[in-house]
This record gives sequence, structure tokens and C-alpha cells, in this order.
Amino acid sequence: MKILMVCLGNICRSPLAEGIMRQLAAAKGLDWEIDSAGTGNWHVGDPPDHRSVKEARKQGVDISSLRGRQFRPADFDAFDQIYVMDRSNYNDVVRQARNEADKAKVHFLLEDEKEVPDPWYDDALFAPVYKLIYQACECIADKKQ
Ligand code: 4NP
Repeated sequence: MKILMVCLGNICRSPLAEGIMRQLAAAKGLDWEIDSAGTGNWHVGDPPDHRSVKEARKQGVDISSLRGRQFRPADFDAFDQIYVMDRSNYNDVVRQARNEADKAKVHFLLEDEKEVPDPWYDDALFAPVYKLIYQACECIADKKQ
């Protein structure tokens, strides 16, 4: 299974999702390829936000070596499932779909199209965002193994 996690900047939410999913997949012996990307290009080449790095480290996940990159249509070919954090990510990714098969790969990370809030402007959101993402990644790993 090849999974791509997508948010806006690829420095707060999707690096957390990538790091958590990698760790869960490894713990469950799943040979999955996991990556993350942002719909925007402001943080290409940047490390994750220090608040995400810190929250992940607290939970035993090291995301410090990840670097930002922008989502591109070729990602529809490279990945089986694309998980987005919120509705605006969904719209930005689906807009780039070339056909129905591309579009069918795009899912909200949370069930019922709930959104993972953007923590960029609120330090207090990083801990709850970590929990939301962790629970969703656990569900994915449990369902697909
Ligand atoms: P992310 O958070 O989409 O979870 O990585 C953001 C990071 C940067 C910005 C917005 C959201 N920004 O405006 O630069």
C-alpha cells in the first residue's frame, strides 16, 4: 500500500500523519510506503514546524528529518490512497485529478469528512491534532492489514 498524507503547508499536520503512519505500519509489520505533501508551495524544502516536531517527539515519533514538498498530479500515479486533512485540501487535490480513478483515491483522513483543524495559528491545537491524526492512522492500519 502506498499512502500520501496531504495538508496545506506540509509542515504541521501531514508530517505528523506521515510519521505516525510510518511508525504504526512498521509496528504492525506492514510493508507500506508513506509520504506527505502540501497543496501550497510556501514550505517546500522546509523541516516540519517545531511545534509538530516537539509534539511528535513527546509521543516517541521523530519527524525532524522530513522536508516539505508540494502535491503534484503525478502523485495520483505514485500512490494508492491520498488522505487529506480538511475540505480545502480535498478541493485543491481533487481539482488536479485527471479522471475518476484519480478522484477515487482521495479521502478525508477522518471519518465522515470531519476535518483535522489547522494548528498553524494556535499552539494549543498541536496536542489534540496529534491525537486525532493518531486515532485515524490506527484505524487505517487496523483496517488494511
Ligand atoms: P499545515 O499547516 O497545512 O498543517 O502544514 C499550515 C502551515 C503553514 C501555513 C498554513 C497552514 N502557512 O500559511 O504558511
